[in-house]
Amino acid sequence: MTNAAQSQLAGKTALIFGGTSGIGLEAAIQAKRQGAKVIVVGLGKASAAKVAEEHGFDGWRAADVTDSSALEDALKDIPTVDHLVLLAGTFVAGKVRDAEVTYLRRAFDERIWAAVTVIRALGDRLSTDGSITLISGNLADRPNAYGTAVLAAASAAMEAFARGLALELAPVRVNTLSPGPTDTPILHKALGDAREGFVEGLKKTLPLHRLGTPAEAGAGVVFLMTNGFMNGATLNLDGGARLV
Ligand SMILES: NC(=O)c1ccc[n+]([C@@H]2O[C@H](COP(=O)([O-])OP(=O)(O)OC[C@H]3O[C@@H](n4cnc5c(N)ncnc54)[C@H](OP(=O)(O)O)[C@@H]3O)[C@@H](O)[C@H]2O)c1
Repeated sequence: MTNAAQSQLAGKTALIFGGTSGIGLEAAIQAKRQGAKVIVVGLGKASAAKVAEEHGFDGWRAADVTDSSALEDALKDIPTVDHLVLLAGTFVAGKVRDAEVTYLRRAFDERIWAAVTVIRALGDRLSTDGSITLISGNLADRPNAYGTAVLAAASAAMEAFARGLALELAPVRVNTLSPGPTDTPILHKALGDAREGFVEGLKKTLPLHRLGTPAEAGAGVVFLMTNGFMNGATLNLDGGARLV
């Protein structure tokens, strides 16, 4: 932790969607350590309350980001936000000709439309000298044939959305973190027991032969929050996964 980063986050409010697990939880822990007041948002009420208590966060909310009225309700009494982090999402995987369209739509609902709803709901409560961090993923650049085409499209859309927002909301800085495969609960939630075989196969293809850690990805989020000249950018944090 640098003094510069510490002083930049000291007393600032960070509202972190997806802050109850994985990359978002690590970003929340690191932002808190650097002096931010952290409010985490997750899907599950019990888990959000438990995580917030365990880590001494300054608040929590539970809302389904695909339900715009629940989301607006959850944000009604949120104070001014300096750093908004939008990482909520699931591993939406299904082939275009096989999966239910309502399921595939979730990839965009959890990302683009959730971000639109949150930004509109916060309105003037988003500080003009703050930041917004969105989430993408290396699928945006390196799609595969295993049913991730819609998720890849939603991820790429987040990067384009961030660049447009950086102009529309200026001087609020808007960036996207694009992680490669990162060792969080997301794949277990999606694949269950099949996760282990999938991950072992995946590791063999990666230049570093390992997944990223949530702490490495969380540090990327904090970097985007605290570096005052990062704007309209996508930070690829993938251990070189895009190279293969
Ligand atoms: N891990 C990777 O390899 C990887 C790679 C590229 C991109 N990403 C992206 O990074 C983001 C975070 O992923 P992660 O790996 O940290 O996953 P994770 O550990 O499963 O965390 C997901 C977070 O999103 C929340 N969430 C999920 N669906 C939600 C909904 N409908 N409404 C509100 N909150 C919801 C979860 O809340 P609960 O805890 O209550 O469920 C949790 O806080 C995701 O958007 C993912 O697509 C991840």
